[in-house]
Amino acid sequence: MALILAIETSCDETSAAVVRDGVEILSNIISSQIEVHKKFGGVVPEVASRKHLELINGVIREALDGAGADFSSLDAVAVTSGPGLVGALLVGVSAAKAISYARDIPLIAVNHLEGHIYANFLADPGLEFPLICLVVSGGHTDLVIMKGHGNYSVVGRTRDDAAGEAFDKVARTLGLGYPGGPLVDRLAAGGDPFAIHFPRAYLEEGSFDFSFSGLKSAVINYLHRARQRGEEVNAADIAASFQQAVVDVLVDKTFEAAEKYRARTVILAGGVAANRLLRESMAESANKRDLKMLYPPGVLCTDNAAMIACAAYYRYLRGDFSDLTLNAVPGLDLVKGEELNNL
Ligand code: KG4
Ligand code: ZN
Repeated sequence: MALILAIETSCDETSAAVVRDGVEILSNIISSQIEVHKKFGGVVPEVASRKHLELINGVIREALDGAGADFSSLDAVAVTSGPGLVGALLVGVSAAKAISYARDIPLIAVNHLEGHIYANFLADPGLEFPLICLVVSGGHTDLVIMKGHGNYSVVGRTRDDAAGEAFDKVARTLGLGYPGGPLVDRLAAGGDPFAIHFPRAYLEEGSFDFSFSGLKSAVINYLHRARQRGEEVNAADIAASFQQAVVDVLVDKTFEAAEKYRARTVILAGGVAANRLLRESMAESANKRDLKMLYPPGVLCTDNAAMIACAAYYRYLRGDFSDLTLNAVPGLDLVKGEELNNL
């Protein structure tokens, strides 16, 4: 039996969760700062750090109370140590270190992307390896092969914008607001996905990398041209056509990689995994190929601490603990030893 308290503060959600044995969510408190950042049209790092600092103790208290637990009943404390905004990450890392020191319990550092992937293991701890995971968030678009717990190979990644970033920028151009993904998703439901042909970047033959900046520019240019000509645009058609272009490439590359690496299971992770078209298209393609396919429920797709607690549980079983020198690493990569930004 392992009762783990996890803390997540990598971006704009202050979250704490208590999870038993990596599967039973006793509490998952998510305090979103979206309202604060909305007026700036995106996350302001300094504002995010300050907000985390204000919220963190209350959120941890709520998570413990909600789980009917207290500090003395915990077996370990886990925290996202990267990637993310350094000032934001440091708030969570400092809180976790303080708890670990004061209670003399193991400290477990979790990679944020690993957390997103493990949201799937909360739903089904029995997923079969090798599996392929498409991680699509505001900062990442990665194709990851897992041969076992904690064993990752990144076989493809974006060369420019992340999928979520493309959604957010297109939403801004359409004047929809922030964060854009869910708003584009909703607007697209009433549009024709084949009304406008936007480009799909498949890159070199056999490449599992992605590129969304050309697509994003094509949408922006389409809108500018129409406005210059004084033409009315159909925003729902634009949203639907853009979304279809993103999803086509994501699905095609994921299943090509699934075949190449003989994956038994295909999973989705990250905020964009909440996208309805992406979920449906992935499920349909998996069905055709007789592959098992899974995605987390919406609230576990976007940032939350329960997914961090789940990933931490498998590190707990391996005795993979950190000491009190743990630092926040904004460019932390999934694959050990590979750090994009050295501090
Ligand atoms: O994983 P996440 O919560 O934070 C990061 O780690 O980046 O992902 C946030 C991203 C944002 O870009 C947001 O617009 C996008 O996920 N997103 C969506 C949807 N819900 C959230 N994108 C498309 N469709 C959605 N339904
Ligand atoms: Zn995230």
